[in-house]
Amino acid sequence: MDLFEYQARDIFEKHGVPVLAAAIATTADEAEAAATAIGGKVVVKAQVKVGGRGKAGGVKLAENPKDAREKAGAILGMDIKGHTVRTVMIAAAAPIESEYYLAILLDRSNRTFLVMASVSGGMDIEEVAHTAPEKLAKVPVSAVDGISLAKAKEIVAAAKFPADVADQVSDVLLKLWEVFQSEDATLVEVNPLVKTSDGKIVALDGKVTLDENADFRQPDHQRLVDEAGENPLEAAAKEKGLNYVKLEGEVGIIGNGAGLVMSTLDVVAYAGEKHGGVRPANFLDIGGGASAQIMADGLSIILGDKDVKSVFVNVFGGITACDSVANGIVQALELLGPKATKPIVVRLDGNNVLEGRAILKAAAHPLVEQADTMDGAANRAAELAAK
Ligand SMILES: Nc1ncnc2c1ncn2[C@@H]1O[C@H](COP(=O)(O)OP(=O)(O)OP(=O)(O)O)[C@@H](O)[C@H]1O
Ligand SMILES: [Mg+2]
Repeated sequence: MDLFEYQARDIFEKHGVPVLAAAIATTADEAEAAATAIGGKVVVKAQVKVGGRGKAGGVKLAENPKDAREKAGAILGMDIKGHTVRTVMIAAAAPIESEYYLAILLDRSNRTFLVMASVSGGMDIEEVAHTAPEKLAKVPVSAVDGISLAKAKEIVAAAKFPADVADQVSDVLLKLWEVFQSEDATLVEVNPLVKTSDGKIVALDGKVTLDENADFRQPDHQRLVDEAGENPLEAAAKEKGLNYVKLEGEVGIIGNGAGLVMSTLDVVAYAGEKHGGVRPANFLDIGGGASAQIMADGLSIILGDKDVKSVFVNVFGGITACDSVANGIVQALELLGPKATKPIVVRLDGNNVLEGRAILKAAAHPLVEQADTMDGAANRAAELAAK
């Protein structure tokens, strides 16, 4: 789960990483009040989970509370790369002398943690990484040893931080490591980490990604979930424990096994080209033991998607035999009753396929039709969606 900047800032503060006074606001009035409370010049910052806010006009300096009100009014409601700004953060403005970059991340390909550090931080760090990679120090960190003071000093030296800030940056690194480890993060990034005109080191922007696999031991993280920003269908699916991702097309997809579902998305997108460009409406993997209840839950989520015009159930019987799946579909449609309203194309293959097909045939549900092959089923589902 990615956090908003203000949430990252609060976590930083909790672990002693130096940050500036800040408050969030969802209206221009609140922004003015926050700026008054903070006092002096402030920065108004769009809170969206996407990079490049500054360049998109989502970070603005305000001279006084009235100005903060105006800037917040302009930023709230803005669209930044498809993300609507619902909240702004009002932060004290720092007198910046230098902008640095620090990040700790999980480096999956090298099976280690990695620290990246640069004295050329700020909004163009991606550019620096690209054109002057020697300015970005990369130091692996072992999960066993973590970041000790000696390791922090090694990193600071590798990135060539100036001597007058070296100790402060080492200290920030130790604290960021504490954030990374104790909060179960997979990314902790500070860009920019700045040196102010009075020589202090402060984190001005933070990005934190938390590892959802650790949710069971991080009950506090539940309150960081952005419910307003979550797709309601995805939220409902999550509640039912389904592996569902909403997409933009019209053909609802249910399959068993992530690989099969991925290739189903491909064949539907391909078949859809012949039918006016219809596309898959979602990813839904019902996994191995697809009970009637799981099938009913999956179907009801998909049928509740107003964009869906037809459904393609693509099941390859393995451990779960096709007859169980067919019974699941029949019972699911009984459970759903009149809530089932869209045509459903079913392709069964694999273990006990003949029994499975016979069960669907005998049930003769008016919405259900069977197809023998995956391509044939994809084509039919796309055709029905295009009607
Ligand atoms: N509190 C602050 N005081 C002074 N200047 C700031 C402050 N916060 C940000 N800035 C300036 O604005 C620039 C952009 O801010 P920030 O890093 O928060 O957004 P961004 O990098 O554009 O967004 P993202 O990290 O999402 O790409 C910073 O590099 C810094 O120069
Ligand atoms: Mg930034």
